[in-house]
Parts: sequence; structure tokens; C-alpha cells
Amino acid sequence: EAVELGGYEDYMLKEIHEQPAAVQRTLAGRLDAGGGIDLSESGVDLAGIQRIAVVACGTAYHAGLLGKYAIERLARLPVEVWVASEYRYAHPIGDDRTLAVAISQSGETTDTLAAVETARGFGAKVLAITNTQGSLITRESDGILLTAAGPEIAVASTKAFLTQVAVMYLLALELARVRGTLPEEELLALGRELRRIPERIQETLDLVQGRMGEAAGLYEDARSSLFLGRGVSYPVALEGALKLKEVSYIPCEGYPAGEMKHGPIALVDERCPVVAVMGRGVLREKTLSNVEETAARGARVISVAARDDADAARLSEVLLPVPELPELLGPLVASVPLQLLAYRVARDRGLDVDKPRNLAKSVTVE
Ligand code: G6P
Repeated sequence: EAVELGGYEDYMLKEIHEQPAAVQRTLAGRLDAGGGIDLSESGVDLAGIQRIAVVACGTAYHAGLLGKYAIERLARLPVEVWVASEYRYAHPIGDDRTLAVAISQSGETTDTLAAVETARGFGAKVLAITNTQGSLITRESDGILLTAAGPEIAVASTKAFLTQVAVMYLLALELARVRGTLPEEELLALGRELRRIPERIQETLDLVQGRMGEAAGLYEDARSSLFLGRGVSYPVALEGALKLKEVSYIPCEGYPAGEMKHGPIALVDERCPVVAVMGRGVLREKTLSNVEETAARGARVISVAARDDADAARLSEVLLPVPELPELLGPLVASVPLQLLAYRVARDRGLDVDKPRNLAKSVTVE
């Protein structure tokens, strides 16, 4: 293959480990040392935008969901996030003050391209977030923000996802700056935290490496698995569930932790490991009590939490520690142990992690 494995056993593992560098390249030139942001390269005038519609498929859709939390919170602009195959037939509402943000690693996904066409139909401006310069989507858009993940070979997306999330956060900061919705100092402080994220991702890789065997061990006789989170940790749970089901073929569900009692709790028993993404702030406590209910029903719990989170440790068989960050930025580290978990469970089952059955890297048919 053109891209070398460089000592790794598979591309998925290699690409997980490339994430600090991939995110660093993606942020470079867009954030200065003081946390100031410059996204003027996007080529789209963001000043008059009144609503945003994000369209994407698969993992890119989850990056869109995280972008919604960030943009709504920081820039106070309403954001809808659509699975592209739904959007194209949904008769969506918008006008020339709508910004359609299309997220696509390949830039060639048919449904995402069609969703862009739909948005163009009512006069929306289109901003493409893609990893592939010169791809079809770049020709259909008014502006482009490239992710700098480098070539992603494994079918299950990892480094492309984190770079998409990083760009959505940059966009949220830029919108907040343009719209004046945040005090300057707060904006710069967040920018500086974002700039340090590549180191935090590396720290996470180092912290969790030694615990993945134990975490994957909980899946030896698993029949299904439930991934729970609230707020920004909810899309992290969705992405964690998608990753594990894609490469291990274990039925997995990602759910908002507070909604679990309205359905998925029926799945819970000792053969349905529960993965809890704790997050920070008030939602951490809410998530803890939701997860407690699953533990009371025999669930074996893996939690992604701060190293010193004694409550999470008490509830969990395995704690996957992540560095403490401002709540909004947490997903950039919390996603990493879940990628490694998916990888390890699939490898323990002897599966081909780079080329899971029935899946394609890029879906160029409807
Ligand atoms: C396929 C891939 C996923 C990817 C999705 C969207 O399903 O297997 O990893 O997230 O397509 O692809 P795109 O290139 O548009 O981001």
C-alpha cells in the first residue's frame, strides 16, 4: 500500500496514534499563541448568517453534533444537524442567510453532495469541511475548510473525526468572535485551550494504553453494549458505539444517559457492558446516577472519566482516565479511549479491523 504501516499492525491503530499530529496540523495557522483565531480562509462571509444546517453521514455526522453544541453555546446561533440522506428529501427550511456546513472526509459521499445541492436550491451558502483537496464537494461549495488528517486508510474513521471536531470548534470560536457573543478574554482562553489539545490527546493515549486489555476483557461474552453520555458526551457515546459495532460486529447503542430508562435499560444485564462517558459539571453527576441504575441491574461498567473521579471509579470495573478540560473540549480526548476499545475488542476476536465486512470507506452510491 502507498501509505506505510510504520511498525503498527494495522492502519486503524496507526491512525489513532497519529491524532495528536493530525489535530496539530489542522489547527496550525488558524489559532495564534494568544488564542486568537483567524478563519478568513473559509471564503464565506459569516457575518449575516442566521441559521446553520450541518449535513453529513456516519462519523462525520457525529462531528456535526459536537459542532452544534459548540456553536449554539458560544455563538448563540441555531444549528440543525442532519443525516444527509434524510436532509435531501426533507423539504428543509432555509434561505440565503442559511449556512450549510457539509462535513465529509472523502468529499465524495453521494448523499452529502445531494444535501449540498438541496441547500443550494434555496440559496444557502455552502461551507465544506473535508480532508480531500480537489474532491467533488470542494467544487460545489462557496468556501472550504480543510482538515489535515492526512490519508485515512482504515474504513472506521478515527483521525479524520477528531480533525473534523477541531474544525467545528474553530468555526464556533470564529462565529462567536464575528457575532460578539463572548467576552474577548473568554474567547482567547478557549482558543489557547484548543491549541493545547494535541498534547492532551497524546497524554490520553499514554494514560489509557495500559488499561485497554482489561476493558476489552469485559466483552468476552458480550451480546450487546450500551454507550451513555449527556451533553457533549452524548455524541461521544454515539461515536463510541458506532466504532465498536463497525469493527467488532457487537450490537451497540449510543444513548443520552437520561433517556436510557425509556428503552435501552431493558437490554442491561451482565452480558451488556455499559460504557459511561462522564464529562464534567452538573451533567457528570446526572450521568453518574443514570449509570448507577445500570450497575444495580448487573451491568459491568467502563467509564471514561477524570483520573481522580472517585465516584466513577466506585461504579466501574474499569476506569479509562482522561485529562480534565473545559467541558466543551472534553470530547476531543474522551473519544480516544473509545476508539482504542473498539480496536482492541475487534482484535481480540481475530477480526480484520481495517476492512470490516460490508462497509466501504466512501459511499459513492445513494
Ligand atoms: C462511510 C465510512 C465512514 C464515514 C462515512 C462518511 O460510512 O465508512 O467512516 O464516516 O462514510 O464519509 P465521508 O467521506 O463523507 O466523511
